Amino acid sequence: MNKIDLDSHLSESLAAIEAARDLESLKTLDTELLGKNSATTSAKKNLGQLDPEERKVEGKRINEIRDQIQKKILGRKLVLAEEENSLQLENERLDLTELDLGHRLGHRHVITQTWERLEDLFVGMGYTVAEGPEIEDEWHNFGALNFPLSHPARDMYDTLYVDYGEPQSTLLRTHTSPVQMRVMESQEPPIYSIMPGRVFRSDTADATHMPVFHQIEALVVDRGITFADLAGTLDAFTSAYFGKDFVTRLRPSYFPFTEPSAEFDIRRPDGTWLELAGCGMVHPNVLKAGGLDPEEWSGFAFGFGLDRLALMRHGIDDLRELFRNDHRFLSQF
Ligand code: DAH
Repeated sequence: MNKIDLDSHLSESLAAIEAARDLESLKTLDTELLGKNSATTSAKKNLGQLDPEERKVEGKRINEIRDQIQKKILGRKLVLAEEENSLQLENERLDLTELDLGHRLGHRHVITQTWERLEDLFVGMGYTVAEGPEIEDEWHNFGALNFPLSHPARDMYDTLYVDYGEPQSTLLRTHTSPVQMRVMESQEPPIYSIMPGRVFRSDTADATHMPVFHQIEALVVDRGITFADLAGTLDAFTSAYFGKDFVTRLRPSYFPFTEPSAEFDIRRPDGTWLELAGCGMVHPNVLKAGGLDPEEWSGFAFGFGLDRLALMRHGIDDLRELFRNDHRFLSQF
């Protein structure tokens, strides 16, 4: 190959390399331009026919050309690899707009819906929402609520104790009533608060019991609060939550922390009664434990089982269904 031929070979080669569209064709070009059968390799073989001076110049020239071709291939290789890489990323990218999101979007669990609906309702009546710890001390869960030590009423609650401190001094709260104490400790009356939360009892799971369940507590402390305020509040709650054709009644009952105490029932449109909550006037000892003078302040309290409300509202007959996390079941609500 003479000098002119080598020059045009170089420029043609560079153009061909630049024109390579993918790594595959670049590889073919590499073999073609630098391999055994390449123009430059055969030009090298022919060097022997030249005289020594010419051979030196021509040899150097051929090497320079091979160098340039090699560099060009390398540069192009980097560009193509980068392109192929981002093309692959692009292909592997999930196109989320293709998903039927309207169908797959989750929603709140039916217990959470009930919880939030109750909060909304009471907030609408001027109540604040408070919360307390799920791990409680014996005093807040029992003592301050006027459960005398070793009183059988404590046995009504199948308490789960936590192995911490003195034996039986720390427990998983058995009801939301201890939050009444927490509220009295942290704010001055007037108090109009609800306290929803998780509670725990050592119960075997069945259609109507779970070892972990939910309650919503209410506490009102103000001047001159009477039993009529309690009855009126429960009435207002019932028609707001269930509708106008539900009727309420109060039956005498016993809780250590209220005096007098009552059970709160509602009558459903079909005439059957359902027990919904315990309630009563806050016991003077409880007000005292909360640092309040029972001569100055009075109040009422009540506590609902939240899970039962959810079951009732949706006509679910087995509490355990709510916690199996079967999507087909939960998605109905
Ligand atoms: N804490 C009671 C329970 O879990 C329910 C209860 C009864 C709450 C009467 C109250 C109340 O606030 O006044 O069985």
